[in-house]
Amino acid sequence: MELIKTKQELNIKIAQLRKKNKTIGFVPTMGALHQGHLSLVESAGKHCDVVVVSIFVNPNQFNDPGDLERYPRDLEKDMGLLENTACELLFAPAVEEVYPESDERVFDFGELDKVMEGEHRPGHFNGVAQVVSRLFEMVKPDKAFFGQKDFQQLAIVREMERQLNLGIEIVACPIVRESDGLAMSSRNTLLTKKHRKSAPLIAKTLKESCNFDPFKDIAEVKEYVIRNINGDENLEVEYFDIVDGDTLKAVDRWADSPYIVGCIAVFAGEIRLIDNIIYKNP
Ligand code: PAJ
Repeated sequence: MELIKTKQELNIKIAQLRKKNKTIGFVPTMGALHQGHLSLVESAGKHCDVVVVSIFVNPNQFNDPGDLERYPRDLEKDMGLLENTACELLFAPAVEEVYPESDERVFDFGELDKVMEGEHRPGHFNGVAQVVSRLFEMVKPDKAFFGQKDFQQLAIVREMERQLNLGIEIVACPIVRESDGLAMSSRNTLLTKKHRKSAPLIAKTLKESCNFDPFKDIAEVKEYVIRNINGDENLEVEYFDIVDGDTLKAVDRWADSPYIVGCIAVFAGEIRLIDNIIYKNP
């Protein structure tokens, strides 16, 4: 694996690969890597000749300065984890490399970024689109790999790719979980002991909510999930929405869509965790 820090070096490498007709799989990350990230790298390795991973903590997508400051960073450790994986090039640029001048673009994602994460983290998805479009431009991948853990992000990236007409295939990869069910996340390392102990209740409750009679009211399922998680004094639900998996619009009845997903954000102390569950898949 080769570590690349500048756009210029990356350009040279990508041009060489293109010349050899290699297909490029790209896995953008913000580092503090875990098995969830590594599963994307593995998937990229299966689909493409060469895998490029980026590690860049994108300031433009943090609406909370405290969250940006706290975000875990450990390039040495990440490089260790990427050794012996399919990753051939690791692109870890400085902020000035990605944003030589500030990015003033404002994307229009219609309703997609007005709900859930978009509603609670203003500007977040615009920042995601800014950085992912720039990284796409630099890496020029054939396929890019994203986790379903960030369900709404996946919808946004697909829409951005469509709008910019980049010809990149966006591949969705399943959520990787800890043995107790907690969805893996770089932020999990920031949880205090008591919050870490309570956090698996999120996934457990989502899983239980699937056992509801599918004809039971969606409102009742929502109420159950929120009540059950808030019943733990260490957890506080910010939102739990049951939505159409494509449009992300709230659904009122199970029959309203063939593709239904429940998306949740929960505060465990200072740390905000997200997870989701697919209730119905076409
Ligand atoms: P980050 O949170 O580092 O996640 C990088 C990728 O790993 C995303 O596609 C995310 O969905 C995926 N991922 C994270 N946890 C996962 C898990 N438990 N199982 C499967 N996949 C998981 O998402 C971002 O970074 C940024 O917003 C980024 C796209 C890099 C733009 O800055």
